[in-house]
Amino acid sequence: MKLNRKDLLNLESLSSEEIELILNTAVPFKRLFTHSIKKVPTLRGKTVAFLFYEPSTRTRTSFELAAKRLAADTLDLAVPLSSVQKGESLLDTGKTLEAMKVDFIVIRHSENGAPELLSKNLKVHVVNAGDGTHEHPTQGLLDLFTLREKKKKIKGLRVVILGDILHSRVARSNLWGLTKMGARVTLCGPKSLLPEEIKRVFGKSVRIEYDLKKAVEDADAINVLRIQKERQSQGFIPSLTEYIERYGLHQNKISWLKKDCIVLHPGPMNRGIEIDSSVADGERSVILEQVTNGIAIRMAVLYLLAGSTLNPQAALENS
Ligand code: CP
Repeated sequence: MKLNRKDLLNLESLSSEEIELILNTAVPFKRLFTHSIKKVPTLRGKTVAFLFYEPSTRTRTSFELAAKRLAADTLDLAVPLSSVQKGESLLDTGKTLEAMKVDFIVIRHSENGAPELLSKNLKVHVVNAGDGTHEHPTQGLLDLFTLREKKKKIKGLRVVILGDILHSRVARSNLWGLTKMGARVTLCGPKSLLPEEIKRVFGKSVRIEYDLKKAVEDADAINVLRIQKERQSQGFIPSLTEYIERYGLHQNKISWLKKDCIVLHPGPMNRGIEIDSSVADGERSVILEQVTNGIAIRMAVLYLLAGSTLNPQAALENS
């Protein structure tokens, strides 16, 4: 099967078959990480440009490693040092990169819909690395991959998304991905951080629970979201102390969880707020495995968008 798409903008528009194709394609790429040479020549001659208008550690570096492990060239447009600072528009910046004959633009932007604007106006492949509060599709995919790897299935899994859902593009991509793949999703957090729009869009296909104990007691996995201080323009939470008390996944609440419940976090973490170190570094945590899996997922996305039909296992064997 082929991913018949120029771009990856969201998980909302992907079918469950397309999601499964990406997850399956990432499996042999992850195996490559155990080889002494972690590289295949699949995208040799292609150029992947990074256009990050917001800070990033995991997403940018793992896209860069993914591109390099597929033997592509990479180009990082350092936005703070670029002509964006002189007022150049997003579209003009995108067109400039296209004129330089890059093949992919991986974009992170604070505005919802910025990747879509490039997608509609450029011929290059556009990959959304997080836009505003809209979506972060590769994070959603790597979370699905990690869940499937750990639990051997996604369908029927009880997954809690915990915390600042209002500001979270990770939550939205997870919601689309998990519901399409048949997981049973519970959203948990303070009322002020659980947007009406999500309740309207997902309706009865997700459960809303304001009480953390009730939300997590039958969970197979909990995806803990970061409290996004940079997007808290109004007082959505009365106090951090109260938030920690009610919704922080700290050691004092771990006895509420099933023995085999795993804990995910997209990073970066506010240790001591939404999660404490004993949980983040504890035996239930799969947070660093998410990071490793992110590279395999991003390799699969670049590989499939480039139109590769060769089985990735064959690509590894031919390398
Ligand atoms: N999960 C995530 O998007 O992390 P970064 O902001 O470090 O890329």
